[in-house]
Amino acid sequence: MCGIVGYTGSAQAAPVLLDGLRRLEYRGYDSAGVVVQTGDELKMVKASGSVAHLAELTGGGRSLEGVCGLAHTRWATHGAPTDTNAHPHLSEHGLFAVVHNGIIENFAALRSEQEAEGIVFRSETDTEVVAHLLEKYYDGDLKRAVMRTASRLEGSYVLGVVCSKEPGKLFCVKEAGPLILGLGVGENYFASDVTALVARTKNVIYMDDGELAELTAERVTVYDRTGREITKTVSHVVWDIEAAEKGGYEHFMLKEIMEQPRAVKSTIDLRIRGGRIAFEDFSLTPEELKGFDKIVITACGSAYHAGVVGKYVIEALCRVSVEVELASELRYRDPIIDGHTLLIVVSQSGETADTIAAMRECMARGAKCLAIVNVVGSTIARLADNVIYTHAGPEIAVATTKGYTTQLAALYLFAVWCAERLGRLDEARYAELVDSLRALPSLVQRAIDLNLHARYLAERWHGQKSLFFIGRNIDYAAAMEGSLKLKEISYIHSEAYAAGELKHGTIALIDEKRLVVALCCQERLFDKMVSNIQEVKARGAKVLGLAIEGNRRIFAEADDVLYAPRGEQLFAALPEIVPLQLFAYYVARENGCDIDKPRNLAKSVTVE
Ligand code: G6P
Repeated sequence: MCGIVGYTGSAQAAPVLLDGLRRLEYRGYDSAGVVVQTGDELKMVKASGSVAHLAELTGGGRSLEGVCGLAHTRWATHGAPTDTNAHPHLSEHGLFAVVHNGIIENFAALRSEQEAEGIVFRSETDTEVVAHLLEKYYDGDLKRAVMRTASRLEGSYVLGVVCSKEPGKLFCVKEAGPLILGLGVGENYFASDVTALVARTKNVIYMDDGELAELTAERVTVYDRTGREITKTVSHVVWDIEAAEKGGYEHFMLKEIMEQPRAVKSTIDLRIRGGRIAFEDFSLTPEELKGFDKIVITACGSAYHAGVVGKYVIEALCRVSVEVELASELRYRDPIIDGHTLLIVVSQSGETADTIAAMRECMARGAKCLAIVNVVGSTIARLADNVIYTHAGPEIAVATTKGYTTQLAALYLFAVWCAERLGRLDEARYAELVDSLRALPSLVQRAIDLNLHARYLAERWHGQKSLFFIGRNIDYAAAMEGSLKLKEISYIHSEAYAAGELKHGTIALIDEKRLVVALCCQERLFDKMVSNIQEVKARGAKVLGLAIEGNRRIFAEADDVLYAPRGEQLFAALPEIVPLQLFAYYVARENGCDIDKPRNLAKSVTVE
């Protein structure tokens, strides 16, 4: 879950590396480091803290001469985020520097072996063993040293390697975790994500597991696990660097909330042609679709919450049983999954380690896999049988907003498409649902416009120590995401509860002045929610109600109100999350939190 960048060319490397690193900070931001090769030396600066701090230490990189180097921003796994544990790590005699994303699972055994050989370790990381192995195996042939080193490693890793004796040359290796090569003119790059490269080149190669690449200023060569040169496809990135900049907003999160109408529109419009949902690229035949006896959705974090919404919508429309399971649980069960299971995997990054493992487990049991993914060319997109890309564009804030809402849009598209194919919808209802899908972008815009007062509500409620989100049915699914949004960026304890379940224990925690956010957008259940609101008010709680625009009864029940615009009830989770995103954002802002980079988190979780 760290970010790595490599550069070789004729420009001064460190400023280029730091610029790339800055764009990868969402992957980890507890420490950072940079190394450049100059003459036959490696010059390194690394420190705990942010990339901005590293830039201060190096004058924006200008104090480090050299045209070839590596950089790293860390999310600590092995060893605290200290200066010494920051990457890069040097080999014993300083011949090699290594940056690493992932976990070397057999590092303890390798470390004992190396300590027995007399090597004194400088850090507590799993990565340092890699630098020492490289030095041990180097006999003048860098590629061979890299391959021999990789053959000793178990676990998941992406490595960047530079050697003081090989001017202008870099190696990178991928074994799980994202790695992209950038092809420039007289300069080449690698990075964990295209966002680090797109300011300098749009021509990229997506590396696969088991591959390694050798980069010089003039040439990029990719090899397979056996060292055989292979030809890779060069892809062209379609978005501009502005998409990964703040564009005048105070935080990426706010910018990304505001981008949702456009992102949802792109996701939906690209799949509707002539009034019909088009998945002509799917390999699923109508017979296969009819042959599935259940659907299993798996994901992590907010993507899992999107899956919970998906269950309600798919079951309602398709009348097929849907299970939703956290990928970290599914991967270690013995699930009942076979060729009659359709697996839906949801992931913004397409690189989440638990999601990939669960997906592999289910596919090995015969499940067909449909992936809903944002990042083009990511591991999950490439492993799946079929892909629905969300078109959120790059999402930089660690707390997902447009990533989540575009996942909902993709799940809705699939649900309506599948229901029609299964013969569950008459033409009139199908046309109505397609119209409702097309209306979603303007409903999201309306949800933004209706709730600009969220900042004033945040001023009133930001001092809460703990709160509850309650809802029923799809509102309960949305409550899970609303609650996570608040807690992850404001550090206020928050829990989502099915409104009817609160009285079975958790109501014991309700006391005077505790805020309960009551989601009341499923109108057929509004009266039930009113009863739940009264239960908590009777115990002294204050209530922030979220209701459909035009609902006046909510004023009688709630202390404050947020609104969701009126639209198809089955799709309500999408517009109704917007006021909760805004509320979470403004509460975190009131509390002075680092909104785009909340403590302890990382956006792309490529370790277990
Ligand atoms: C991290 C992010 C979450 C995200 C989850 C799953 O925890 O902070 O925002 O929902 O990973 O990520 P994915 O890329 O698979 O959607």
